[in-house]
Order: sequence, then C-alpha cells, then structure tokens
Amino acid sequence: MKKLIFICSTYFTIGWAGGIYAESGTFKSSKHADPGIGVHRDTNLPRGNCSQCHLQHDGDLPYDFALFAPADNGTCLSSGCHDYQYQWPPGDYYWSFPGNTTDWYNSAHGASAGQFPPGNGRQVALCVQCHDPHTAGDSIHGVYPSATRELEERGCYSNGAIVGQGCHGMNGSTRPAGADDIYSQLLKSSRHNVEASAKEHSTDWQASYPYGRESRQVNSGHFSDSNRHVECVDCHNPHKAVSGGHQIGSNEIGGALLGAWGVQPSSAAPGATPTSFTAVDFNTIGGSLEYQMCYKCHSYFAFGNTAPSGYTDNAREFNPANASFHPVQDTIPTNSYTIQTPENGLTQTMDNRWNNIVHNKMTCSDCHASETATDPGGPHGSNNPYILTGSPAATDIAFCTSCHLGLVYAPPTRPIGETGSRFDGQTTGEEDASHYFHVTVRGIGCRQCHGGRQEPPPAQPEQRSPYPLDAGSAHGTNTLVGLMNGANISAYVPGNCTPTCHESITYSAGPE
Ligand code: HEC
Ligand code: HEC
Ligand code: HEC
Ligand code: HEC
Ligand code: HEC
Ligand code: HEC
Ligand code: HEC
Repeated sequence: MKKLIFICSTYFTIGWAGGIYAESGTFKSSKHADPGIGVHRDTNLPRGNCSQCHLQHDGDLPYDFALFAPADNGTCLSSGCHDYQYQWPPGDYYWSFPGNTTDWYNSAHGASAGQFPPGNGRQVALCVQCHDPHTAGDSIHGVYPSATRELEERGCYSNGAIVGQGCHGMNGSTRPAGADDIYSQLLKSSRHNVEASAKEHSTDWQASYPYGRESRQVNSGHFSDSNRHVECVDCHNPHKAVSGGHQIGSNEIGGALLGAWGVQPSSAAPGATPTSFTAVDFNTIGGSLEYQMCYKCHSYFAFGNTAPSGYTDNAREFNPANASFHPVQDTIPTNSYTIQTPENGLTQTMDNRWNNIVHNKMTCSDCHASETATDPGGPHGSNNPYILTGSPAATDIAFCTSCHLGLVYAPPTRPIGETGSRFDGQTTGEEDASHYFHVTVRGIGCRQCHGGRQEPPPAQPEQRSPYPLDAGSAHGTNTLVGLMNGANISAYVPGNCTPTCHESITYSAGPE
C-alpha cells in the first residue's frame, strides 16, 4: 500500500485491540496528537496532526502507509524525533527512552534477529512491535501509557488478549529465539505481582506532569500507599536491557537492568534508617548496584518511616555501619574465614561460586529468585515464601548452605581439624561449642542462632521459647555481631553466648 488520502483536521477511526472503537480512537488523547507537545516535524502543519507523519498526496508515495520516511525504525529515530537530540530532560522524573540510537541497537531487543510471532511475524527490533504510533487502549483502562500496543506488562508476555502466550510467555513455540519465560515465574505462590496494578507507574500524562513518570524525590507518595505497585518496567528498560545476569561475588547489576534506575542512600549511623537518597541511572553495568533499584520501593525512599505491613526498611538492615549484615551494600568488616590469615590457614567456607580468598559482595537477587536454579535469574517469583531460592524457616538449613558450605556449617561427621569457621571445636576449645554439635547432632537450624530478630529480645518472656523470626532479620542487624540475632539467642559477644536453650557459656573466640 503506497496511497493514503487523509482528510485534514478530521481524525480517522483507529481501532483498539479487541474491536473498532468509536469516533477518534485513542490517538486524540495521545502525546503524539497533543496540540501543545505533539508531533511537530513539519512546522507548516498543525502540531499533532496525522499529516505530521502521513503525507497528504493523492499520488504514488515512496513509502508504505504514505509515511514521510521508510516504514521502519527510521520513522521514529532518523526523523530526529526519538534520537538523542530529542531526549526530554527527565529532571525530577524518569523517562524511559534513552534517546540514544546506539544504545537501542546494542540492546537485546534492538539487536534481536527474532520475529514475533516466531517464523511469520514482524521483527522484534521494530519500535512498532511494542508501540502503536496512534496509541492503543481498552474500555476499562483507557489509553495505554507510552503508546504501547498492550497494557504494560502484558506487552512483555501476552499476545493480544491471549495472556501468557507472548514473547516472555510460558509457551516455547510463541517465544522469539532467546526470550526467557518470565510469565511462569509470576504464577508462583510468592512473586512480584505485576498484574495487581494498572497505570500506577505511568499515570495518564498531563501538560503539568509531562513525563507521566514517577518522582525521584524521597517519600514522594509515588511508591507508597495506593501508589505502591511494581511492573516489569520499574525494574527493566526495554530499550537498553541486554541479556545476561550479574556476576556472582559482585553487587553490580546484570545487563538485564541497564537503563533502569535506583537510589543510593547517604550514610547513616549504626542501626539508623537512611533518610536521604540520590537517584542513580543505570547507564553502565560498572557502578550501577542492584540494591539501589530495590530501595526505590523497599526503603524510606518509598514509604518514609511507615513500611507496609509485613515489610521492613531494607536500607536500614543493610546499612554498612551495622554490627553485621549480608554484603549487599558493602563487604563485611569481620573475618568470616573467607580471608586467609595466619590463624585460620585457609579453609574454604563458601560454595565454589563464591570467592573464598577475598570478601565478596552480593545482590538481593542472589537470595531472591526462583527455587529452581535453571530458571531465569531475578526476583520474579518462587514457590518459597518471599521469592527466596530456599525455605527461610528457622529449622531449614538448605537455603543457607546453598552458599555457606554444608561441610563447614552442617558437617555430616565430626570434623577432624579446623573447619575454617570461628564456631568450630578446634577454635573454641570446646567440642560442643561448634556448628557440628549444634546443627548436625542437635538439629538446630541456622536461623535459631543467625538472622532471626531485628531488635534485642525483651527481658521477658521466659527463655526457652524462641523469639519469632522477624521479617528482614537475615539481611543485617545492629543488634549483634556475626548475625548472631537468631531466634534463640538472648545475648552474644564473641567467646560468650547466652542462648534460650541453656546457661550462658564461655569459650575461646576465634579471631574476628
Ligand atoms: C507519529 C507519527 C504518526 C502519526 C501522527 C499518525 N500516524 Fe498513522 N502510522 C504511523 C506509522 C509509523 C504507521 C505504520 C505502523 C506499523 O507499521 O505498524 C502508521 C500506519 C497508519 C495506517 C495503516 C494501518 C495501521 O493502522 O497500521 C493508517 C490507516 C494510519 N496510520 C492512519 C493515521 C491517522 C488517521 C492519523 C491521524 C489521526 C495518523 N495515522 C497519525 C505513524 C503515524
Ligand atoms: C520490546 C518492546 C519495546 C520496543 C521494541 C520499543 N519500546 Fe519504547 N517503550 C516500551 C515500553 C514498555 C515503554 C514504557 C516504559 C516505561 O513506562 O517505563 C516504552 C517507552 C517509550 C518511550 C517513552 C514514552 C513516554 O511515555 O514518554 C519512548 C519515546 C519510546 N518508548 C520510544 C521507542 C522507540 C523510538 C523505539 C524503537 C527504536 C522503541 N520505543 C522500541 C517498549 C518498547
Ligand atoms: C522487582 C524487579 C523486577 C521485576 C518487577 C521484573 N524483573 Fe526481570 N529481572 C530482575 C532482575 C534483578 C534481573 C536480573 C537478575 C540477575 O542479574 O541475575 C531480571 C532478569 C530478567 C530477565 C533476564 C533473565 C536472564 O537470566 O537473563 C528477563 C528476560 C526479565 N527479567 C524479564 C522480566 C519481565 C518480562 C518482567 C515482567 C513480567 C520482569 N522481568 C519483571 C528484576 C525484575
Ligand atoms: C517499583 C517498586 C518495586 C521495586 C523496584 C522492587 N520491589 Fe519488591 N515488592 C514491591 C511490591 C509492591 C511488593 C508487594 C508484593 C506485590 O504486590 O507485588 C514487593 C514484594 C517483594 C518481596 C516479598 C514478596 C512476597 O512474596 O512476600 C520481596 C522479597 C521483594 N519485593 C524483593 C525485591 C527485590 C530483591 C527487589 C530488587 C531487585 C525489589 N523487590 C524491587 C515493589 C517493588
Ligand atoms: C542472604 C540472603 C538475602 C539477601 C542477600 C537479601 N534477602 Fe531479602 N530476605 C531474605 C530472607 C531469608 C527473607 C525472609 C524474611 C525473614 O524470615 O526474615 C527476606 C525477606 C525480604 C523481604 C520481605 C520482608 C521485608 O523485610 O520487607 C523483602 C522485601 C526483601 N527481603 C528484600 C530484599 C532486598 C531489597 C534485598 C537487597 C537490598 C534483599 N532482600 C537481600 C534473605 C535475603
Ligand atoms: C546467596 C548466598 C548466600 C546465602 C543464601 C546466605 N548467605 Fe550468608 N553470606 C553470604 C556472603 C557472600 C557472605 C559474606 C562472606 C564474606 O565475604 O566473608 C555471607 C556472610 C554471612 C555471615 C557473616 C556475617 C558477618 O557480619 O559476620 C553469616 C553469619 C551468614 N552469612 C549467615 C547466613 C545464614 C544463617 C543464611 C541462611 C538464612 C545465609 N547466610 C544465607 C552469602 C549467602
Ligand atoms: C548454636 C548456634 C549456631 C548455629 C545453629 C549456627 N551457627 Fe553459625 N555461628 C555461630 C557462632 C557462635 C559463630 C561465630 C560468630 C562470631 O563470633 O562472629 C558463627 C559463625 C558463622 C558464620 C560466620 C563465619 C564463620 O564461620 O565464623 C557463618 C557464615 C555461619 N555461622 C553460618 C551458619 C550456617 C549456614 C548455619 C546453619 C547450617 C549456622 N551457622 C548455624 C553459631 C551458630
């Protein structure tokens, strides 16, 4: 088709998915059509008019749909509209398109040779694969934000009305080559529920709020209360993401998060909640840290001092000034026997994936991901509570021993010689003051001693009844060193332990 005749100033009827829609379609309410900010490629023609993109001639025109440029990505990019020059300043808001043609062609989507639907569809790499320049919508949700063809996450995993059968859907035969099945993760008992909200991330845009984006200001209300939500595009930027997970032992992002953003907390006193943050754009992998993205929704930045029920301020827990923590923000300051010293010799205490010579850092998604190691990485969903790779129950040890070697922390037989741990019969000088005796012989779970509570226990209730596990307590604590904030620990200093199970005991502590 090379001919299109347009009647100026009258909008054609443009359908939306699922049937032809009454007069004017959704185009009229789109950013492209807006008389204030709409398309203005040709300044002799009215802003936002059809003729800005479709030439109005009754004759042979060189390009399909009578477009002013070839009907491919050139219409959007080389026209000067969506290249770097046109990038809108994000200011206090986030605007997802990097506006950089090179970034686009290097991205997993822009570089894809795949088609959707596979075999007989259009190229994945076309802007119009995901966007409809006229916009789309439905009668319940109105215009879809950002002129996408489908409502938000459905564009990632659905095919029109057929939910879960799209590019990141559950059916291998409808996924373009190289695309992971994310939809199946979202059906699990614990997940980021991306379907729970619509148009929270990008509300209908207004001239006074032109980016239609979330604020990057602390506790703005855009991530809390009724605006609390999560979508694929909160964590991913489809124009910049490249494939590949993060490097184990590092807290930097994997390529899948390129182009997204997060927040860096300023330093805070031990045990304190960080209350000021700086926005960080994930332009390169180096220097972009995964936790920064999570803090956008799981810290004071999102909800101030009032965490949603059942949730805690994760930036407070991982504060590197705390007495102990998992090394998400910074390496741990104490000797976990993964550093070689004259005292310990070097015994490997971590699984091989981790560096046993230097202190590691880690990402949130090292612990929060599918229970099945061969599934795609990332905190999409798991059959364990809290999107964990293993069960967080107090008596379960498998989750912890997926990283901390079972041979050291749950040795099947009494170890001969040092295990490399600080809590080891050879080091403490007491056969029973050891992981072997407690975990293997007495069947005590890791979280009965480590990572079970946020705060010191109250003077009452009586000992011998474990304190309940507090959410987030495995992350970090300022209560005690060595994450000795377990559900059965009343007090601990290296060399002296007061559990709820027996009298306080004293032994020689290994070097910290
Ligand atoms: C921002 C540029 C732009 C504007 C403004 C625009 N279009 Fe289009 N239009 C396109 C592009 C690009 C295509 C090709 C879409 C594709 O390949 O899927 C297209 C395709 C079409 C088609 C072919 C069938 C289809 O829907 O894909 C029709 C009809 C059409 N446009 C009508 C209109 C009308 C009527 C207006 C004004 C109400 C309008 N367009 C405004 C860019 C635009
Ligand atoms: C794989 C799907 C996909 C492809 C292909 C794609 N985009 Fe997007 N684009 C999206 C999604 C999803 C959003 C919404 C992001 C958000 O809300 O953060 C978006 C947002 C945008 C925005 C911001 C719109 C606004 O509301 O301010 C622009 C501009 C944009 N895309 C342009 C393009 C251009 C130009 C191309 C081709 C070079 C392209 N996109 C290719 C999925 C895609
Ligand atoms: C809460 C944040 C979050 C949400 C929501 C989210 N993801 Fe992810 N996703 C991640 C993280 C983090 C990774 C990278 C994990 C890594 O580096 O190992 C990832 C990885 C991926 C990967 C690459 C997997 C691999 O192993 O290469 C794909 C594809 C993906 N996500 C798609 C999606 C889609 C589609 C959605 C929406 C249905 C979605 N994600 C929602 C955080 C998220
Ligand atoms: C845009 C906001 C947002 C971002 C970014 C985000 N989350 Fe969430 N997260 C949520 C919301 C909202 C929930 C509540 C469950 C729901 O409604 O999906 C949640 C729930 C969770 C849960 C508990 C799930 C359960 O079953 O109880 C975990 C764990 C979690 N997020 C981890 C992460 C990690 C790790 C990251 C970073 C890689 C992250 N989140 C980034 C919004 C976010
Ligand atoms: C060493 C493993 C580990 C790491 C690393 C980790 N988590 Fe968790 N997380 C857990 C466990 C275990 C729970 C279960 C809650 C409990 O029983 O304490 C949990 C619970 C949660 C919850 C739900 C309860 C709450 O406190 O809000 C969220 C949200 C969460 N984690 C987010 C994160 C974020 C964000 C990061 C990175 C900044 C992270 N986690 C890093 C192990 C981890
Ligand atoms: C995904 C891997 C992973 C999982 C799962 C994990 N950890 Fe860790 N843990 C680490 C890393 C990495 C370090 C830091 C090691 C180093 O660099 O010295 C660490 C450090 C620790 C420390 C020393 C903290 C300090 O400040 O001295 C303790 C105690 C600990 N973990 C206990 C646990 C317990 C208990 C569990 C299960 C609830 C658990 N870990 C689950 C990776 C993990
Ligand atoms: C009876 C209580 C107890 C139990 C149960 C226990 N630990 Fe420990 N663990 C300790 C003590 C005490 C230390 C020394 C802490 C310190 O002084 O920093 C320690 C230290 C550690 C450390 C820090 C590095 C090191 O080896 O010194 C890690 C990691 C660790 N334990 C993991 C585990 C894991 C994994 C489990 C479950 C398989 C577990 N622990 C069960 C008491 C316990």
